[in-house]
Amino acid sequence: MGWRKHLTREKVDQRLLKQEVRYDRESRMKNKRSENLDTLEEVFDRRTIMTVLRLLNTGKLKEIHGVIKSGKESRVYRGTDGEGGEVAIKIFLTTSAIFRQGRLKYLVGDQRFREIPHSTADIVDMWTLKEYKNLQLAQEAGINVPTPIAVEKNVLVLSFIGKDGKPAPLLRDVPLSSPTGWYKAILGIVKQLYRKAKLVHGDLSEYNIMVPNGYPVLIDFGQAVTTEHPQAQAFLERDIENLNHYFSQFKVKTVSPQEFVKRVAKA
Ligand SMILES: Nc1ncnc2c1ncn2[C@@H]1O[C@H](COP(=O)(O)OP(=O)(O)O)[C@@H](O)[C@H]1O
Ligand SMILES: [Mg+2]
Repeated sequence: MGWRKHLTREKVDQRLLKQEVRYDRESRMKNKRSENLDTLEEVFDRRTIMTVLRLLNTGKLKEIHGVIKSGKESRVYRGTDGEGGEVAIKIFLTTSAIFRQGRLKYLVGDQRFREIPHSTADIVDMWTLKEYKNLQLAQEAGINVPTPIAVEKNVLVLSFIGKDGKPAPLLRDVPLSSPTGWYKAILGIVKQLYRKAKLVHGDLSEYNIMVPNGYPVLIDFGQAVTTEHPQAQAFLERDIENLNHYFSQFKVKTVSPQEFVKRVAKA
């Protein structure tokens, strides 16, 4: 028993870290993994690096390439999964205080997440899991979203929307031949999301809709709430307002957000 007593959690942690680092150095010669980790190390804390290493070691991820988008609260990287398929890796920053303030209202009130943790890192993990679960629900309801492939702490692995490492354009960058058709199609998806997936996106705009091959794919589901959330209808109204704002520049005849909510949510 003797030596075991001295193996505190901290020491085990350190040992694991040493092993990982050694593994990392060895593999540096052999493949691209560690190159990728070098890039990550400049931005992320140790906890995040360990999480990415775990995904690499368990084969859920094979490679991480360059960054697609770097935001205040998350970074999205290109990469490949265990089978070599293209993926997007969304990593939430655990150090953002803004995160805590701004995002709590989308967690509190969601019946799936009754106990809100204290530490920011744990809240961010919960947020990451929430996006994963929302995407699962949307996909099960037959809605076009990235497939959630894996989730581990603050790291989310998604099917890649785009081709040959190039992400598909966002709605805002796509010229629309029939804006009214697009508007109606997107409202149809929002309705399906509400009725079938029982979700409200909560941050819907021309920035969170990708267009890979002529069809809209909704992304960015961290803040999405279930229709039971006390604010669900208010969030839905705001989503429609955002869409209306975007589409009114093309002279599309828009519906009133209140009217839409009444029709979709109260029928
Ligand atoms: N599954 C994906 N495949 C390809 N690119 C993606 C994918 N998910 C996100 N992106 C890219 O990353 C950007 C940011 O992703 P998003 O989920 O909107 O995060 P946030 O807006 O919170 O930073 C998107 O605008 C898109 O260009
Ligand atoms: Mg976004």
